Amino acid sequence: MNATFKILRYDPDIDTRPHFKEYVLEALDPTYRILDALLDIKGKLDGTLTFWRVCGHGVCGSDAMQINGMNRLACQVLLQHVDTEKPIIIEPLPYLPIIKDLVVDMSAFFEKYEMLKPYVITDEAPPALERLQSPCDAELIMESSKCILCGCCTASCPSLWSNENYLGPAAFVQAYRFVFDTRDVAPEVHLAAVDSAYGIWRCHTIFNCVECCPKDINVTWHISQLKKRLVTDTM
Ligand code: SF4
Ligand code: F3S
Ligand code: FES
Repeated sequence: MNATFKILRYDPDIDTRPHFKEYVLEALDPTYRILDALLDIKGKLDGTLTFWRVCGHGVCGSDAMQINGMNRLACQVLLQHVDTEKPIIIEPLPYLPIIKDLVVDMSAFFEKYEMLKPYVITDEAPPALERLQSPCDAELIMESSKCILCGCCTASCPSLWSNENYLGPAAFVQAYRFVFDTRDVAPEVHLAAVDSAYGIWRCHTIFNCVECCPKDINVTWHISQLKKRLVTDTM
């Protein structure tokens, strides 16, 4: 099959504003991925196209972008998942500053992540090998541990669109992961970070985050558990 890719291009050194550029690739297999298209466009048609990718297999989260209006990982979207009768629109993640083409500045995203102290807080000396936990306890945080910090959820959230200081759903999933880790002795430290002026109470249960998470994490459920925990801990 043939496909047309309409890609948002922006080079701050030469462009006054972002603009779309079209590329056509021919005789493609249905299992060809959007990431394959970007690599072929860069390798064969236009070496100036800029995007991030590291693992190529849904693990690193670096190739998060908007594909036909939905935040996705380019390495996880096959041609057979999109309508090839129309141009496939590829844009950077929305509401984040563009560095170049499909590469956005994630520094604010990671600063918010660091605010919630994303590590197990413990008062015990480090063990020789690992801090073990029971399978039952591990199950409590299994789903949230799948988060790859791709940013798809946070960039899809209208609460962020209306206020750039909003911590965002990715930070809340990570907070859940440490608050409910039975090896952590100070859940109140992670909770205090999300119970802030730009924190969890600005989530209005809009569910965009659930729809776009490439790891199928029920983000809104995790946010609701944190809200419940905050209420019960202060009663
Ligand atoms: Fe990405 Fe899902 Fe983690 Fe959000 S919760 S950062 S969408 S993996
Ligand atoms: Fe935003 Fe998800 Fe809440 S889209 S408002 S974080 S449910
Ligand atoms: Fe790593 Fe897609 S390239 S998640």
